[in-house]
Amino acid sequence: MGLHRLGSVTIGVPNVAETAAYYADFGLTTRADGWFATRDGGDQLRLVAAPTRRLVELRVGVDDPDDLGRVAANLRRLGVPVEADARTLTAYEQTTGVRAVLQVEPRVAQPEVPPTPYNGPGRIERAGTRAPGILRADPVRPRKLGHAVLGTTDFAATTAFFRDGLGFRTSDLIGDVGIFLRCSTDHHNLLVLAAPVAFLHHTSWQVDDVDDVGRGASAMLDGHPERHVWGLGRHHAGSNFFWYLKDPAGNFAEYYSDMDAVPDDQLWTPETLEGAKGLFNWGPPPPPSFLHPDDLAALMTGAHSR
Ligand SMILES: [Fe+2]
Repeated sequence: MGLHRLGSVTIGVPNVAETAAYYADFGLTTRADGWFATRDGGDQLRLVAAPTRRLVELRVGVDDPDDLGRVAANLRRLGVPVEADARTLTAYEQTTGVRAVLQVEPRVAQPEVPPTPYNGPGRIERAGTRAPGILRADPVRPRKLGHAVLGTTDFAATTAFFRDGLGFRTSDLIGDVGIFLRCSTDHHNLLVLAAPVAFLHHTSWQVDDVDDVGRGASAMLDGHPERHVWGLGRHHAGSNFFWYLKDPAGNFAEYYSDMDAVPDDQLWTPETLEGAKGLFNWGPPPPPSFLHPDDLAALMTGAHSR
């Protein structure tokens, strides 16, 4: 497929400096030009000033200029205006106002991290030593941006934009209110969710393994218990371990590891998940504020007065 990676997200927040300090704590590397970088993915987060928190832009890497031509035709068929040159294509998703930018860029092969040794029944992978997960002293630094979750008041239109227009593939569905979409070999790079207001639910950041999900979240909560949202658990869709935290603007940020991979579209059969499976497989019960963030009502008011 022509799409090969989720390049970056730009998030609008009312409190840029405070939120920037949070993402530095989260383990992203602060650049002089306002971008935040991951270890393997380069510049993947930008914060900009906005009256209320929102997803401003999503960048996607594509293989070659032909891919842009095909996407432009698909978007125009949906009635979406498109701006394009030889290397980039820009279009706005009408309901959420999210700017999608497709850019021709080379594929990045992520360096392979050696598997973490875990002992199991009849299986000693780690003889005579304590677990790496408790010996690591370095702060957790995410490997790459994994996905964003976008609430929309027009589920069908937003889904059509990303799936039928941009060419994201369907990995799984949550009833008729959620769709897990991918633009890479990850199970999902974007989840579109029906919601009473357009908003950014969360971004998600890959770490090495479940120990680093736990270590990263524990470090974030040290002195900041208010950052905790939900975790540790394992999702059903995508299978990934998760722990959700909250930035000072109200956006959730997830550490994840061990997500399903779909290197070949033929290998994956999308399922429609019903009930709790749409949300998770195991873990503590999700707090009500995970499904309906505390500031949704305020965001709705903000949306009306804009
Ligand atoms: Fe997630």
